[in-house]
Amino acid sequence: MDLEKLLTDRLAPAFEKVAGLPVDPVVRRSQRADFQSDAALALARRLGRPPRSIAAEVLDRAELGDLCAVAEVSGPGFLNLTVADRALGGLVAALATDPRLGVPVAAEPETVVVDYSGPNVAKEMHVGHLRSTVIGDAAARLLAWLGHRVVRANHLGDWGTPFGMLIEHLADLGEAEAAQELSMGDLDAFYKAARAKFDADEAFRERSRQRVVALQGGDEATLRLWRLLVEQSERYFLAVYELLDVTLTARDFQGESSYNDLLAPVVADLDRAGLLRESDGAACVFPPGFAGRDGEPLPLIVRKSDGGYGYPATDLAAIRHRTGSLGATRLLYVVGLPQRRHFELVYAAAAQAGWLVPPARAEHVGFGSILGPDGRMLRSRSGESVKLVALLEEAVARATALARERNPDLGEAEAAEVGRAVGIGAIKYADLSSDRHKDYVLDWERMLSLDGNTAPYLQYAYSRIRSIFRRAGTAARPDAAVSLVEPAERALAIELLGFSGVVAEVARSLDFHQLAAYLYRLAAAFSAFYERCPVLRAGGELRESRLLLCDLTARVLRQGLYLLGIRTPERL
Ligand code: ARG
Repeated sequence: MDLEKLLTDRLAPAFEKVAGLPVDPVVRRSQRADFQSDAALALARRLGRPPRSIAAEVLDRAELGDLCAVAEVSGPGFLNLTVADRALGGLVAALATDPRLGVPVAAEPETVVVDYSGPNVAKEMHVGHLRSTVIGDAAARLLAWLGHRVVRANHLGDWGTPFGMLIEHLADLGEAEAAQELSMGDLDAFYKAARAKFDADEAFRERSRQRVVALQGGDEATLRLWRLLVEQSERYFLAVYELLDVTLTARDFQGESSYNDLLAPVVADLDRAGLLRESDGAACVFPPGFAGRDGEPLPLIVRKSDGGYGYPATDLAAIRHRTGSLGATRLLYVVGLPQRRHFELVYAAAAQAGWLVPPARAEHVGFGSILGPDGRMLRSRSGESVKLVALLEEAVARATALARERNPDLGEAEAAEVGRAVGIGAIKYADLSSDRHKDYVLDWERMLSLDGNTAPYLQYAYSRIRSIFRRAGTAARPDAAVSLVEPAERALAIELLGFSGVVAEVARSLDFHQLAAYLYRLAAAFSAFYERCPVLRAGGELRESRLLLCDLTARVLRQGLYLLGIRTPERL
């Protein structure tokens, strides 16, 4: 059980009695004691009383005897709380026997759709898709572990006007040749060749336009070529997912085209609800509260003037399907921040149409860009956007080389496995450990470093604990009595008890850097503990107790990294 929560639950009723209204005690870790509450300070003005006297009265009324060794008023009116060693030991012992490490299954499981990755057919995945894939996969793992029904929705861009030129280019190349190019993963070359012809050749442009019409009209021969493009691209994306070690499978593709049959009913529903207005020949919804720079209301175009449907219509259909047919109540959209406005308009229109009403709600899990060392958008040497696979392969190659260097005894297969776990882990962790709302700089040296807030550091901490057990020749006894003697030991125990609180918070905010920061703190606390407290050289009960702390730390690190999608090899 999370200590902050435990102390909050004890203090809250006392505060309420003193203040005559519900008060959040705001319990935080502190330098002075284990924990501190500063709520009395905030109440002083409201109650017209000195904060110290409020704090003293709260202490009088709070039941803390079994939990705290010291509970005192300090400074202008802080409450300083020091947890009793016995209580701490008891809580850690309980944690050790809990397979869920103190994290409860959600009391009210819900259906959550995580819309993530969403690459585009016949186009290379770029680094923006990397962020979406990595953050979305962490969200899916976390919410599933909490007992929610998670639907992974890979909103593949598999429809729209570019398919006219793509299909024509495919037909020009011949199916065999095109399949060959696409399966090599050279999607960009294919796309660019099509684009170049489109720009240069009027006849090709005209053929492309007719293809779009044939595609939308359901022409069988055209659909077959289109499917070929989609299948080849899906196969390629699945290979990237495999390399990236994410949980997306072939079953999770839910492309834009899968909503085609729902588009006309969506527009009909909007019309019936009186929400459609015509603007320049297009059918639009104008959700209230959205204005452009000129102050004019912003339209969401659901049917273009040529009768076609675009991105907004598909997203409306997707919402209607997700809440209506899948019964989802939480819709997550893990998409870059530049699309924020699009989603706000879509959510607002869906709410007006009655497809997104409480308890159902949608959240844009936005993120910034990945920057190159020069602080600009990441580009390859030739100035093009960086191929995701190239990035991943480089990470694995660098990590494998480092693993060999550090540990020359590593066999070929093991070096490759470690290199993969560390390289991919480093890429994912660099992403997840930075505040997703901000841009971050891709820095190979830093992300592969064994020091600092990195995946290799945490993986190393894990493998070091596992090596303790290899040397001990035994596992930890989960029912060992826990005795906490040294300050470093207490500090580690307090960190271990903090896991459930962080997980609960991140399940709400989806700010995974908070989980990363927690794991880093935990590993650092372990390191300090291991430096000061002999484990294998300790005798009897103390040794058992310390082995249990080691084991718990390894389990929390492993589970925490699993939630971030990062592997924990037994040895590095
Ligand atoms: N294909 C889009 C892109 O590459 C991302 C799709 C995001 N999901 C959605 N439901 N619109 O930008």
